[in-house]
Amino acid sequence: MNMTSPGLDSAPSQAPAEPCIFVIFGASGDLTKRLLMPALYNMACDGLLPTQFAIIGMAMDELTTDSFRERLSRDVRAFNTRKDFEPAAWENLCSRLHYLPGKFGDESSFAGLRALVSQLDAQYQTAGNILFYLATPPSVFGLISGNLDRTGFKRLPGWKRLIVEKPFGNDLASAQELNRQILSYCQERQIYRIDHYLGKETVQNILAFRFANGMFEPLWNKHNIDHIQFTVSEAVSVEGRGGYYDRAGVLRDMIQNHMFQMLAYVCMEPPSSFAADDIRDEKAKLLKAIRIYNSDEVLANSVRGQYGPGKKADGIPCPAYRHEPDVNPESSTETFAALRLFIDNWRWDGVPIYLRSGKALWTRGTDVVVQFKTPSAAMFRGTAIHKLSANRLIFHIQPDQAIETLFQAKIPGPVMQLQPVNMRFSYGEAFRASRGTGYEVMIYSAMTGDPTLFSRTDLVETAWRVAQPFLDAWASQPSTDFPNYPAGTWGPRSAHDLIERDGRYWFEVINRETIERVPLFRGGDALFLNQVCMALQPRAVTLGETIIQQGDHGNEMYLICRGEVEILDTQNQVKATLREGDCFGEIALLLAEPRTATVRAKAPCNLFVLGRADFSRILRDHPQFAQAIKDIARERYQKTVSTEQLLKRMPGT
Ligand code: BG6
Repeated sequence: MNMTSPGLDSAPSQAPAEPCIFVIFGASGDLTKRLLMPALYNMACDGLLPTQFAIIGMAMDELTTDSFRERLSRDVRAFNTRKDFEPAAWENLCSRLHYLPGKFGDESSFAGLRALVSQLDAQYQTAGNILFYLATPPSVFGLISGNLDRTGFKRLPGWKRLIVEKPFGNDLASAQELNRQILSYCQERQIYRIDHYLGKETVQNILAFRFANGMFEPLWNKHNIDHIQFTVSEAVSVEGRGGYYDRAGVLRDMIQNHMFQMLAYVCMEPPSSFAADDIRDEKAKLLKAIRIYNSDEVLANSVRGQYGPGKKADGIPCPAYRHEPDVNPESSTETFAALRLFIDNWRWDGVPIYLRSGKALWTRGTDVVVQFKTPSAAMFRGTAIHKLSANRLIFHIQPDQAIETLFQAKIPGPVMQLQPVNMRFSYGEAFRASRGTGYEVMIYSAMTGDPTLFSRTDLVETAWRVAQPFLDAWASQPSTDFPNYPAGTWGPRSAHDLIERDGRYWFEVINRETIERVPLFRGGDALFLNQVCMALQPRAVTLGETIIQQGDHGNEMYLICRGEVEILDTQNQVKATLREGDCFGEIALLLAEPRTATVRAKAPCNLFVLGRADFSRILRDHPQFAQAIKDIARERYQKTVSTEQLLKRMPGT
C-alpha cells in the first residue's frame, strides 16, 4: 500500500493510476456529487488520473451526457474541498464524462453500456480495463454483477474491478448471501468493498505510527496498557436519512464497520509485510479473537441509547429521534451504543476495549485513547503528590487531526508538585496537505489494483459474527427507556456507568472552544486555557441526582457543559437555577468550609470537574482567574476573599 496521500507536498510524487474506464452505477445520486466527483477532481488536480481515462455514469434518471456534465460542473464547485477551484483540471475531467440512462435489472441497458464502453475504450485507449463503482443499495449488487456477467464484460481484454459501497449486509446472514452472489460472478481479487474510514489519513497513520516507530510497540500489550477507548461522536442527527437509519442503528451504521476497522488497526499483530493480504490477514486474525458474547454477556457489556429532543451542538433545536422524518414513532432503533469488548489473544488478554458512538451528541469527534497502567505513587510519599494519573496516547482522527500524549511534569519551583501536560503532533503543522474527501486514496488504490484498504469476504463476515449477538440480544430485549439522552449531550448516563463500574471513565476531548463556552474562562490566554483543558474531567449526572450535599467536605468545583442544576437551601427550597456555562462548588475550595448548599440536577447534566489541587494551581498561575473567582464569591455568597486567603488554600504553601 502506498501510505502517501494525494496533495501531500512532502510525499514523493505518485504515478498516475492505470488507464481505465470508470463506470458509476447510481451516478445521479448523492454519493457521486458529494464525494466521488470531488475526489476524482482532486485526483485530476494532483495528476493522479491517467490520460487514458473516461467516466460513464449510469442511473435511471433521464439525463444526457450534456446535462450530466452541466449538473456535475455545478455540484463539483459546491462540494470542492480545495481552497481554489482549478477550472482547467475540471474542464479536462468534464470532457471525459458520459451518461447512459438505464435500469439495473434490464439486460438491454447493459448491452448499451457494453457498446459505449467499447467505443470509449477505442477512443481513450483504456486497454479494456474497467472499474465499476456500485453507488447503489446493496439489494441491487447481485443484479448488477449478474448483468455484467451476462453481457460479456468478462470477455473484454484488461482487468475488471468492482467497488462496492456500504452497507455490506444488514446482518451476518445477509452479508454472507451478498458475498455469495457477488462471488458467483467475480473473484475475490476483483472486489473492492469500501469502508471510507480506511481512506482517512489519520486512520492509515495508525499503522505507520505503530510499525514505523520503535517507541510504543514494545509497550503495546496487556502488561502496560490498562484499556483502550474508541469514540465516534457525531453532532449531526439522522438529517433526512431516517428511512435508512431506522433499519440500521448505530451498531450497523458505525460500529460493525468503521469502528471495527480502527480497532483492528490499533490492536492487530505486526504484519510480515505491507502487502495487502498480509495486512488483511492480521486484521482478520484480530477480529476473530474478539470474544463472542452470549445474550446475557451482551446485555452486561453494552448500553443502547436513543436521543430525545434537545439542542444540537450549534444551539439549534433538535427533535426527538422518533419525530424525525421517516422514523417509526415507536422506534426502538439505537442512535447511540457503547460496548465493552475483550480480545482473547496473548497480547490483549484481560484488557477491556470500550467503544461508543452516537448521533446528536454534544460535539463531533473521533478519537482513540490508549490508556497506560498507572505507575506506583509510592516514591512520592511525603510530598504533596498523593495520586498519579495514567499516561494516555490519543489518536485524534477527526476533526482534530493529531496524535497526543498526556503525562505529568514537575511544576517549576522548589517543591515537588505535578501538573498534567501534553506533547502533540498535529497534521496541519507537520504537512502541507490539501483537504480531500477520503475517497481519493480509495479510488486510486482500486485503479492501481491495491486492495489493502478494502475489506475481504472473511473480514466482513468476521465483523458481523462479533456484531450479530448484539443485534440478536437487543432485538429480543428492546430497550424500555428510550429516549434516554437529550440531543446535544454526551449520551445516556448508562454509558458512563458501563465504564465507571470498572473504575475508569470516558475521556472527553476538551478543547479551547469547549472551555471558552464557560464565561469564567472566556478570554483567557493560551497557557491558562491549556492548563484548564488538561485539568478538567467529565462527569455525567442523571436527572434528580444530588451532586453536592450541604455540609459535606468539598474537594472539587463543577462547570455545566449541558443541563441545569438547582441550588437548594437547608429547607430544600430552590434558591437558584444554574445553566450551561455556569459553575458551582467553588466556595468550598476557596474557603475550606463545608458545602454551603445542596446542588441537584434539574435535567441530565454533563459536567466538567476541577479538583482542588488543579484549582489552586490555576489560581496561583493566573491572577485573572483568581479575580473572577473572587468576584463570584462576592456576588454569590457576599464573601470577600483576599488574594492572600486564596493562596493560603494552596497545597504546598
Ligand atoms: C457513514 C454513516 O458511513 O459514516 C453515517 O452512514 C455517518 O451515518 C458517516 O454520519 C460518518 O462519516 P465521517 O467520515 O463523517 O465520520
